Amino acid sequence: MQKSAVKTFGILTSGGDAPGLNAAIRGVARTAIDQFGMNVIGIEHGYRGLIEGNARELHPEDFSGILTRGGTILGTSREKPFKNEEIDPETGMSAVERIKANYKKWGLDALVVLGGNGTNTTGSLLAQEGLNVIGLPKTIDNDLVETDITFGFHTAVSVATEAIDRIHTTAHSHNRIMVIEVMGHKAGWLGLYAGVAGGGDVILLPEIPYNIASIADHLKKRRDAGKAFSIVVVAEGALSEEEALMDKKTFKKSRLAMPYSIAYRVAHELEEATALESRVTVLGYLQRGGTPVAYDRALATIFGTAAAHMLSQGDFGKMVALQNGKVVGVPLENVAGKIKRVPLDDKMLLAGREVGTCFGD
Ligand code: F6P
Repeated sequence: MQKSAVKTFGILTSGGDAPGLNAAIRGVARTAIDQFGMNVIGIEHGYRGLIEGNARELHPEDFSGILTRGGTILGTSREKPFKNEEIDPETGMSAVERIKANYKKWGLDALVVLGGNGTNTTGSLLAQEGLNVIGLPKTIDNDLVETDITFGFHTAVSVATEAIDRIHTTAHSHNRIMVIEVMGHKAGWLGLYAGVAGGGDVILLPEIPYNIASIADHLKKRRDAGKAFSIVVVAEGALSEEEALMDKKTFKKSRLAMPYSIAYRVAHELEEATALESRVTVLGYLQRGGTPVAYDRALATIFGTAAAHMLSQGDFGKMVALQNGKVVGVPLENVAGKIKRVPLDDKMLLAGREVGTCFGD
């Protein structure tokens, strides 16, 4: 056994589930147990389990057969302890105080948190409270700063691309505009990659406010060139030029009042503007579920083993990241509260423009 700064650590998965979480858990735990003899405490349902004290010791057999499984064997939740104002009626403690008490009660030397923006932001705040935290970058949205890629993203891109391929055939057979909504509220990475890979004729992202007249123009030109069908990929956070001018509060309020998701509005507007029949498919949770692709399993394994090595070295307060092909640890406070949006000079965005994709502007 190699020397280790950590004897016992807790591990949790938080936020939306994503393919590759189990591969990452396995990567951390196998390395921690086999190489360093650490004890692993699996915390259930993310930060909720850490507050409520729901955890169990994990053993090598718990990590067998999970590499290929989607979801998370630990369960997850969208609990945000620093926004939780509940006071425990029995102890009179706040959510954060309960977390610190459980950390102490379980004899944890460190905590490994697997998740996206919210998870790593909470991890950073817990580090400021004196806990030893290491974060891992998971999200199908690929919107974490300081890392080139997050695990879960490639699987979601593959699922969405396959869906676009399948919808393409119906679009072609019926001469319809097929509007496909993919996930991505604040960042359009998934829509961009799946849209370009699936040959979307129009791709609408949160980063580029759209103008319905320019899209209609593009579709009419396609029709005049003999292509009477079109594929329109819409990220769920896509917005019009008018909406882009609204202040944040007004925009949020108007979206909450909208009784359907954005793809339906785009389809309706395009039908009116082009007189072409349109149909909508919202891919939703299909994009997060199921078996991770090989790349996500491999990436999650690399990230997981790196996290175990960081635990052994007492290298805390960091998120494992991939930067220019190298696995590094970046300070959690550099990640906290930030979102990596698609820059307007992104290589995939430019490639999409080169091959004639309309981005709605
Ligand atoms: O995991 C991120 C994400 O997939 C977003 O793209 C999406 O808006 C969100 O999760 C929805 O998830 P839930 O309904 O689980 O909160």
